[in-house]
Amino acid sequence: MLTEIDHVAIAVRDLEAAVEYYRSTYGVEVEHREVVEKDGVEEALIRVAESYVQLLTPVRDDSPVARFLEKRGEGLHHIGYRVASCAEALEAVKARGHRVIDEAPRPGSRGTTVAFVHPKDAFGTLIELVEE
Ligand code: CO
Repeated sequence: MLTEIDHVAIAVRDLEAAVEYYRSTYGVEVEHREVVEKDGVEEALIRVAESYVQLLTPVRDDSPVARFLEKRGEGLHHIGYRVASCAEALEAVKARGHRVIDEAPRPGSRGTTVAFVHPKDAFGTLIELVEE
């Protein structure tokens, strides 16, 4: 069902500092930046082969990522797995009786369709199903 790692998302407090760290240390450039208003985040995508590192920072205090930073500090936030069909993958997770955060697929960044699976049933990792 999972065809590729789409992105590894890392929550950071200072997006510019994180981008500069990746640029100056690893020689990589940001391929895409986007503010996702609904989630209250700004992201910077750095391509690594066919996958991305997604640097993620809150743009509002009530953003889930703001709460994450407050509780857990900076670091790994979620893993996005590429799937052929987000709807089918989400139904398969639900059919196994596992909790999900999104009951139905919704728009993600870059024009993708996404749904989040609950970390409590996924061994502590927030999982995002990503259909391009
Ligand atoms: Co993501």
